[in-house]
Amino acid sequence: MKGRTMMSLRRTKIVAAGAGAALLLAGLSACSSTQSGSTTTASGSTTAAAGGLIGIAMPTKSLQRWNNDGSHLDELLKAAGYTTSLQYADNKVDQQITQLQNMINLNAKVLVIASIDGTALGPVLAQAKAKKIAVIAYDRLINGTADVDYYATFDNYKVGQLQGQYIETTLGLKDGKGPFNLEPFAGSPDDNNAKLFFAGAWDVLKPYVDSGKLVVPSGKAPASNADWTKIGIQGWKSDTAQSEMDNRLNSFYQGTKKVQVVLSPNDSLALGIEQSLESHAYKPGGDWPLVTGQDADQANVKNMLADKQAMTVWKDTRTLAEQVAKMVDEIIQGKTVDVNDTKTYDNGKGIVPTFQLPPQVVLKADVQKALVDSGFYKASDLGL
Ligand code: BGC
Repeated sequence: MKGRTMMSLRRTKIVAAGAGAALLLAGLSACSSTQSGSTTTASGSTTAAAGGLIGIAMPTKSLQRWNNDGSHLDELLKAAGYTTSLQYADNKVDQQITQLQNMINLNAKVLVIASIDGTALGPVLAQAKAKKIAVIAYDRLINGTADVDYYATFDNYKVGQLQGQYIETTLGLKDGKGPFNLEPFAGSPDDNNAKLFFAGAWDVLKPYVDSGKLVVPSGKAPASNADWTKIGIQGWKSDTAQSEMDNRLNSFYQGTKKVQVVLSPNDSLALGIEQSLESHAYKPGGDWPLVTGQDADQANVKNMLADKQAMTVWKDTRTLAEQVAKMVDEIIQGKTVDVNDTKTYDNGKGIVPTFQLPPQVVLKADVQKALVDSGFYKASDLGL
């Protein structure tokens, strides 16, 4: 199905499910704690509210960003008069499906889903569609089903591109500097974003691998973007990344050979990699390699301040939650849903109309301005 057709179909098939909520989302601040019309607890018990029930399915509590995403979206929706059911699934696909089934049984009006396995939700979303429940894919695209109505995310290809370009510029690769020893990592093979992060970075870096300016001693350099799952870390686990880095350092870096740059797609992997570097006696400010990341997780920002991580790609998750709260409201009120990308995100069944937000690079020198002055962290959270 073509993007435009798909989009107009998707727009018209979602009818006002309960125009009762008079909402002024634009005025809500990140720290709003007022709840009108609902007495919902964070774990999802529900009582009726004017706007109806919105199901929020998040993947795991074990990563800081999803806690921030979930609680912020929950706050915004409650303050706007909706009842919410906010659920975390411990990174277990079956658990997430059960949670979605419960939300469907409770007649949720909209499901907002940050999926664990982006290919596993087709059957449960068919149940949602049968009850005319709208579905928004949150941050991660849901693949292989026509029953996803909208997608809100950051520019995922750009995230990887920013990591690749940071490496290219910092090492002076464009000026012919090198060779440097690189170890590349990729994210979870079941996460559609991981593919895009890798492609963005590899499009910048692979030419230097081909020309010999970047050398991958472990041999774990994917031959093409499509090969990325070979170096994917299942479930984005820090400890798996740590043992993978341990193996590479133990097997391929004997004697004086040092790793000089690590492409890490996000902060949870970077954390494990940094622990491995530590245990292999690499010294910050000395032989410590350039390590990339994503998310500006608290532990990683602290590591940036301690010269153990060179950069992170920050996605201000408050803006994503705000955009999604707005989308929910537009859906419920039967308004045209605001999207800004109707070309990029084909989920195998058609283009999913998307609102895409810009990611940004944060370096040690930017921490105060970008992360503290903006209120994302308190100075004391970061030991500042
Ligand atoms: C998100 C990243 C996150 C990763 C692991 C990705 O889908 O876009 O921000 O680091 O999942 O949770």
